Amino acid sequence: MPVPEIDPNGVPVHIGVVMDGNGRWAQKRGLPRTEGHAAGEEALFDAVEGALELGVKWLTVYAFSTENWKRPPDEVRYLMRFNESMLLRRRDELNERDVRIRFLGRRDWRVPRRLIRRMDEALSLTAGNRTMTLTIAFNYGGRAEIVDAVRSMVEAGVSPRGVSERAIREHLYHADMPDPDLVVRTSGEYRISNFLLWELAYSELVFTDVLWPDFRREHLFEAVREFQRRDRRFGGLEA
Ligand code: IPE
Ligand code: IPE
Ligand code: MG
Repeated sequence: MPVPEIDPNGVPVHIGVVMDGNGRWAQKRGLPRTEGHAAGEEALFDAVEGALELGVKWLTVYAFSTENWKRPPDEVRYLMRFNESMLLRRRDELNERDVRIRFLGRRDWRVPRRLIRRMDEALSLTAGNRTMTLTIAFNYGGRAEIVDAVRSMVEAGVSPRGVSERAIREHLYHADMPDPDLVVRTSGEYRISNFLLWELAYSELVFTDVLWPDFRREHLFEAVREFQRRDRRFGGLEA
């Protein structure tokens, strides 16, 4: 079923989402911030369904940044456990939808082993799926990714002349991931917060005031409609 007022031939191949506003959503209701994270799960899975409906091939969601370790230890702990249990709860459903789950970010000592185990299970369970790739950016920072890419180039012995945009691209966390065509950020904040810095050089950015737990597929469709009204020039002139 085509989605009203969306050109099925102009759907973004890759959409990135900065899922922001969970804490404020909870605070507005007099609830602890963690309730906002819990309520964000429904938003995420409705967005996944919406992306599948549109035929999006890559959906990348920002779940935990390299800066989010600055939060109070209780909130960090909650987020670790929450993500671990969400993977367990949702992996079969994603697998049935032919969604491939991937992760983007550093697997450093701060990420609990149990969560790493769940990540690996989700990865291997869904590795063969091809309808859509859902990449969960976890302990992810755009600057950290560039640092890691440079480190990996130095380790690979890339010579100064071998350093190029293409070489850097190939050393990012997932060399096969196309750049996002569209990045959506919720909660009325107009910033990137270290998401996909290299990759979003020419992404269209759409900001919405909706707080993440209230986000539903219709908001995603609205962002895609806005995307389709834009004129992407990539530094050239209009076609
Ligand atoms: C986004 O919601 C989720 C994470 C960053 C983990 P926030 O927790 O940032 O919610 P606000 O921005 O404080 O409302
Ligand atoms: C960005 O949101 C990170 C995630 C959504 C995971 P933040 O809430 O951490 O960003 P700032 O602090 O408002 O820039
Ligand atoms: Mg926030």
